[in-house]
Amino acid sequence: MRGDRPAGPEARVLFVCLGNICRSPTAEGVFLAAVAGAGLEARIAVDSAGTGDWHVGRPPDVRAIAAARERGYDLAGLRGRQVSRSDFAQFDWILAMDRANLGALEALRPPEYAGHLGLFLELAPELGLAEVPDPYYGGPRDFVRMLDLVERASGALLLRLQNLLAARADDARR
Ligand code: 4NP
Repeated sequence: MRGDRPAGPEARVLFVCLGNICRSPTAEGVFLAAVAGAGLEARIAVDSAGTGDWHVGRPPDVRAIAAARERGYDLAGLRGRQVSRSDFAQFDWILAMDRANLGALEALRPPEYAGHLGLFLELAPELGLAEVPDPYYGGPRDFVRMLDLVERASGALLLRLQNLLAARADDARR
């Protein structure tokens, strides 16, 4: 029906790192909070996964949970999972935390995939950084730095998706 919203989310975002216990679950929690703050939970779906399988079924790293909690994000209910080829049928935005993860995703990408596969920080070029550094072997300050980058890139992603949804709504009205 003309002008009606399609059932289900209109944008589906998957954040991907190596272990799915530090960077990508942080991005999931932070971006989901931004989406909820904009009243878009029904229109934008958010998930995260890792290219590795070591932490499947496990909660995020306690340091990631603690750093996020300091800023009001709750990551404790999230559980690790490994990315798979079938994710390309589910997600139209697949955002990697670093080039190694992006390389692994490119190797998995079906040729017909028409969504956006790229680096998360490419959406926020003003940060002057292509990769979210892996804090796993670092200290608490590395987790705070990671959270700063994720918050800023999440803001940029939200703006991009808001513009996209608004442009689609304009098209539907024509
Ligand atoms: P993440 O960090 O990719 O941001 O979740 C890591 C977590 C675990 C490992 C490496 C990075 N690991 O080697 O187990």
